Amino acid sequence: MPEPHTPGPLLPGRRVLVVGAGTRPSDDPGAPVGNGRAIAVTAAREGARVACADRDEAAAAETARLVEAAGGDPAAGAAVITADVADPVACERAVGLAADRLGGLDAVVFNAGIGTGYGLAGTALADWDHVLDVNLRGPFLVAKAALPILDAGAALVFIGSLAGTKPGSRSPSYDASKAGLTGLVRHIAAEAAPRGVRANVVAPGLIDTVMGRDASAGNTDRDRVAQLIPMRRQGTAWEVADVTAFLLSHRAAYVTGQVVHVDGGLSTLR
Ligand SMILES: NC(=O)c1ccc[n+]([C@@H]2O[C@H](COP(=O)([O-])OP(=O)(O)OC[C@H]3O[C@@H](n4cnc5c(N)ncnc54)[C@H](O)[C@@H]3O)[C@@H](O)[C@H]2O)c1
Repeated sequence: MPEPHTPGPLLPGRRVLVVGAGTRPSDDPGAPVGNGRAIAVTAAREGARVACADRDEAAAAETARLVEAAGGDPAAGAAVITADVADPVACERAVGLAADRLGGLDAVVFNAGIGTGYGLAGTALADWDHVLDVNLRGPFLVAKAALPILDAGAALVFIGSLAGTKPGSRSPSYDASKAGLTGLVRHIAAEAAPRGVRANVVAPGLIDTVMGRDASAGNTDRDRVAQLIPMRRQGTAWEVADVTAFLLSHRAAYVTGQVVHVDGGLSTLR
């Protein structure tokens, strides 16, 4: 039976791979940080060593710079890994490189996510396939590569979406991929539990990131839904990151196979 924890950093010495650790580029100098970048920086602030993987190498490198500034182990630095998770080989390679650079792995976050195509008529077969490849096959391949090298006490977090349980994104491939992610993560959790490894989904609602602002552009539905949020505001990537860091930590030692909504109460509405 684990002992009660004393207060302190959530992730001391934990070796964390964040896949999708960049942030979508923006011309706005005041652009908000994305979920993956906030997760990587928060993990470092909580004592972790972090490997930053993204298809956008410059974005991953900028996150690594922020991770080092936030107190990630300066001797190790923050590893930058260029990986497009639409490529099955890159998924496996990213896990192997992260384990090499960090000397093993204790935690994996899969944050990469895209949405392409609106409505059934506006979604080409290629859009559907690409979104499913990134949002659902990518998590499968990364988990498949990571599980054999994760020891008891390790944890995985997958960034889902409220779109996985409620309609509203207007993108059938996005909605389906995020719903499928829940099934995949329940499976991973069940398969990994006997080995003491946990897996959970963090499902953000409306989060003020560059992707969130892009999704709002010309989308009156998103503005209408934003008015309904019980907490009367959109969330920040830092709020997504705090929940993710908790779920990666030993303080969440008895939580697995769950979907934790970070949505200001939006999922509680009918
Ligand atoms: N912003 C929101 O309102 C919101 C709501 C619910 C869920 N989410 C989820 O949060 C996650 C991050 O979203 P964000 O708003 O921070 O957006 P973002 O676009 O800033 O972040 C996504 C990151 O994933 C990377 N990425 C995309 N495709 C990739 C690929 N093929 N291989 C490797 N990396 C890739 C991007 O380069 C980027 O750094 C996504 O999974 C998204 O579905 C966001």
